[in-house]
Amino acid sequence: MLVLGIETSCDDTGVAVYDAGATPDIEGSGLLAHALHSQVSMHADFGGVVPELASRDHIRRVLPLIRQVMSKGGRDLQDLDGIAYTQGPGLAGALLVGASIAAGLAYALGIPAVGVHHLEGHLLSPLLSGDPPRLPFVALLVSGGHTQLMRVDDIGRYVLLGETLDDAAGEAFDKIAQLLGLGYPGGPAVSELGQSGNPSRFRLPRPMLGSPDLDFSFSGLKTAVLTVLRQRAGDTRTYADLAAAAEAAIVDVLTAKSLAALEVTAINELVVAGGVGANSRLRSRLSEEARTRGFAIHYPELQFCTDNGAMIAFAGVLRLQRGPGRSAAFTVRPRWDLEDLSPVS
Ligand code: KG4
Ligand code: ZN
Repeated sequence: MLVLGIETSCDDTGVAVYDAGATPDIEGSGLLAHALHSQVSMHADFGGVVPELASRDHIRRVLPLIRQVMSKGGRDLQDLDGIAYTQGPGLAGALLVGASIAAGLAYALGIPAVGVHHLEGHLLSPLLSGDPPRLPFVALLVSGGHTQLMRVDDIGRYVLLGETLDDAAGEAFDKIAQLLGLGYPGGPAVSELGQSGNPSRFRLPRPMLGSPDLDFSFSGLKTAVLTVLRQRAGDTRTYADLAAAAEAAIVDVLTAKSLAALEVTAINELVVAGGVGANSRLRSRLSEEARTRGFAIHYPELQFCTDNGAMIAFAGVLRLQRGPGRSAAFTVRPRWDLEDLSPVS
């Protein structure tokens, strides 16, 4: 089964072609080619994503990227068995670009188009590596729009264990980056500046660290950073120390809640997915905990942490291979809970 994946939910146009062979494949080894166009430099001047500009750029990029991956993968459009596109959640106009291209191509080729949940794509992205997790697993989904802990019982069977009550972890990174005069996206910028900083000089709050639930709250962190900045002149050292302190606070909370989720569920496999999963301090901290506490940890390859077409193609393959969930309907769902997905088997 050969599937084209199209991701246009936010500011990356991602396209991939995936060959699952004849049998169901949850090993994720069939990626033939993928390509990505990042709009980061286009949005940088505005300090965040401008939805209208994002949609227009997706329109410009998506067809050349499709041609590129088909030729890199050595296949023709006529060889495709299905098309997977991100149906939501995301920016409505941006989602519509991927959905309409998918629907149009699928109609022309006489094949199904399947709408994929963006977070299911992230959740399954570690399966694209050579070391897939075993079911059931706990997933820490940390992106610019979401911070959630999910129990994954099977593909399509997701139970929400906890989530952020306000800002997502990536959003906190992005807002703190803005306060520190850094560019967008903020996560990598804060992390880089923090490398030369002292994480202990400012003790920033760890919101909800001790709460008995598995929820998060990150909005107070940017306020704490702002308070420090108002109290003292922002010299270079202060900025670096604040970046290091903010990263340490976010990593502490994400780590503690992930460990609590493993304990509550008595599950020994943790998957970390989404853009913030690219953070090297979060990775090394969780890997250290995994070594000492004896649980297995799985990350997507770095190139599949942030938005990409490969995870959408792969999630689409699993849905197209396993039955229902197939839909050629031309709809997008800018708001969509992961728990509302239908199981695939
Ligand atoms: O998953 P993603 O690419 O897009 C969404 O679906 O939101 O995640 C983007 C988010 C941004 O907030 C960005 O600042 C954050 O992921 N991010 C990072 C790192 N790389 C990306 N945060 C911390 N450290 C990083 N290395
Ligand atoms: Zn994402």
